[in-house]
Amino acid sequence: MGKTSKSDLVRAAAEARRRAVAPYSRFKVGAALLTESGTIITGANVESASYGLTCCAERVALFKALTAGERDFVALAVVARVPNGPMPCGACRQLLAEYAPEAKVWVADACAFHGIRVFSVKELLPGAFLDVPEDSD
Ligand code: THU
Repeated sequence: MGKTSKSDLVRAAAEARRRAVAPYSRFKVGAALLTESGTIITGANVESASYGLTCCAERVALFKALTAGERDFVALAVVARVPNGPMPCGACRQLLAEYAPEAKVWVADACAFHGIRVFSVKELLPGAFLDVPEDSD
């Protein structure tokens, strides 16, 4: 993973969190993805007046990274102002299972980087739906 430490990546997520666009919930989330080559791609949540169109910080970071041609993700840091850090939602877990299956997920309170919790994508979404089977109809 090169020189980027867990706290470097959490700090990058906390910096990205400041650019969250969350006028409805006012709950700001930041995310930072780290690639095998050491590149960091960040994102923050973006909300819509049509609430269901909201996109989580994790997916913003992942979509930015994928469309910039990045692959081989080794870690994802997610931060928000919540004790022990925010847990990724189910939709984000699905996308992580598909595009960042080997990544470690580090979650932290945006105000207290000690006590960072770590999860594997596989433990966050066991038995993920990964292949669309052929339908013979
Ligand atoms: N949110 C994220 O960005 N990531 C998560 O892991 C959980 C929820 C956002 C979506 C919405 O903008 C706000 O938090 C409240 O749900």
